[in-house]
Amino acid sequence: MVETTLIILKPDAVQRQLMGRIIARFEDKGLQVVGAKLMRITEDLAGKHYAEHEGKPFYAGLVKFMTSNPVLVLAIRGDEAIEVCRRLLGKTNGIEADPGTIRGDFGLSKGYNLVHGSDSAKSAKRELELFFTKDEIHTYEQTVGAWIT
Ligand code: PPS
Repeated sequence: MVETTLIILKPDAVQRQLMGRIIARFEDKGLQVVGAKLMRITEDLAGKHYAEHEGKPFYAGLVKFMTSNPVLVLAIRGDEAIEVCRRLLGKTNGIEADPGTIRGDFGLSKGYNLVHGSDSAKSAKRELELFFTKDEIHTYEQTVGAWIT
């Protein structure tokens, strides 16, 4: 099933100049970038995005981190894109994430873990609507897809 998911390259990924290498992971897999926006997340938007974590000990630090510097927000489309992207990201904590995954290859932190990916179809819909208008998500022919799926 073709799905679209929300991926955020967090402030650490942007600061460490890893944007191109991380986007390449999704494109190499055969997924398509259908939306992209370099932006600064406001406290209000971070609060909405991470509402389920409000009250947890890491919440304030997470919001501070996510609003501290620009992020690159991506809409990624492809077959089973939500699950495929979660697997490309790896476990939340870089120490536990398998080599070959983005977090496993680029970090050792749970907080500064480079990328966010929607964890379900419901989250993907909610999060895509938070970060993109309908016009900002595109449909275009991707000939490479015919050779991958
Ligand atoms: S939970 O409680 O199990 O649901 O939390 P978890 O899935 O481990 O993490 C949810 C998001 O919170 C971020 N996180 C942190 N940020 C900063 N500092 C600390 N200590 C910390 N612990 C967890 C974690 O990176 C997850 O962010 P996203 O953007 O969802 O990947």
